Amino acid sequence: MIDRAAFDRDGFLVLPGAIDQEICARLLTRAYAIADGFDVAAHRSVFTTTEQTRTADDWFLGSGDQVRCFLEAEAIDGDGRVTRPNRSAINKIGHNLHEVDAVYAPVCQGAAFAAIAFGLGMTAPRLLQSMIIFKPAEIGGEVTAHQDSTFLYTDPPSVLGLWLALEDATVENGCLWALPGGHAEPIRQRFRREGAGVAFDTWDPRPLPEAGYVPLEAKAGTVVALHGQLPHRSGANRSQRSRAAFTLHVVEASAHYPADNWLQRATPAPGFAG
Ligand code: FE2
Repeated sequence: MIDRAAFDRDGFLVLPGAIDQEICARLLTRAYAIADGFDVAAHRSVFTTTEQTRTADDWFLGSGDQVRCFLEAEAIDGDGRVTRPNRSAINKIGHNLHEVDAVYAPVCQGAAFAAIAFGLGMTAPRLLQSMIIFKPAEIGGEVTAHQDSTFLYTDPPSVLGLWLALEDATVENGCLWALPGGHAEPIRQRFRREGAGVAFDTWDPRPLPEAGYVPLEAKAGTVVALHGQLPHRSGANRSQRSRAAFTLHVVEASAHYPADNWLQRATPAPGFAG
């Protein structure tokens, strides 16, 4: 049962056991297989959110309908060498697993995620973006406070984030933190393409609130649904345990999708199966 009233009140909803443990294990195994097969020397692209301007190279900007790996900043030494095995050096894999990966696509398009999206009131959800976020032990980077509508803007705003714990997430290994009721906050910035690069448009110069966030510790298999305007973040992982998670972002088909959003595809985004 999807508690839409709680989601509308808080801007998020924690759903323990939404995805079977066995499916999570399969998704994690597949994630490591993609990571192990990645040629880090050929594509040394780092993903970090701690700088005001996000890394936005061609490898990133062309990943909207591909499956590509991005490295942790701390996995590269001063000489540009990757210092760790792939599976502990990669920050994330994105952004089209939900369409093209034989293991991820059926889970993403399947009944469990569909029930959450429809249960929260979406009418014609389109699967727009998917990411594996490894948050590796010791070097997993923090994700600074943000609103997902900044990065996946539609008119009107419609993005819904579905975050799945592939491993147990705790305060120690960098779980999500969310601001209850914070989805009432106006969208502060919009991230978009500009020329060959990217830019932020500031719509509201006030910084996002810094206080009041609550940790959303989650066992593997838990889905956290996040309203697109809800401020959320996650800490760095300095622990000895990785904190792998998967995120799926869906938008309403009827909402206008701008041609200068960073994520662009050659074909329309798929819907849920069935
Ligand atoms: Fe987010």
